[in-house]
Amino acid sequence: MIQLTINGKAQHVDVAPDTPLLWVLRDSLQMTGTKYGCGQGLCGACTVHVDGEPVRACSTPVSDVVGRRITTIEAVDGERVGKVVQEAWRKLDVVQCGYCQSGQIMSAVALLTQNRKPSDADIDNAMAGNLCRCATYVRIRAAIHEAAK
Ligand code: FES
Repeated sequence: MIQLTINGKAQHVDVAPDTPLLWVLRDSLQMTGTKYGCGQGLCGACTVHVDGEPVRACSTPVSDVVGRRITTIEAVDGERVGKVVQEAWRKLDVVQCGYCQSGQIMSAVALLTQNRKPSDADIDNAMAGNLCRCATYVRIRAAIHEAAK
């Protein structure tokens, strides 16, 4: 049995230590807000926070996050920056199909937590690992600036 702290709550899961965190979230805990895209750490759809840092859940063995603070899209609005980012996303109507947006928001929140006034270059750099097939990149950048106001 593995004990994790997810969104401030203790969770116990019976999985192999090398199971990707993404499968623990989605299959063991039915927390399906975190999405599966590529499964290879390339698209960013599965981004969660571990101790406040953006991490690809698909390529993170669950044993690596024992004793660490895991935050998912389900709870990111419980933090001030997360709430502001989600409001900006809604205000600027960022989402098109929506599939990648959990990961986009998690990366944006991590950026704005570390950098309250990011430049376009800072945003592009921080968000480069989050792909969007609908190409909402311009609205994502605008929403990050909106959230930084
Ligand atoms: Fe994890 Fe693509 S599903 S990076």
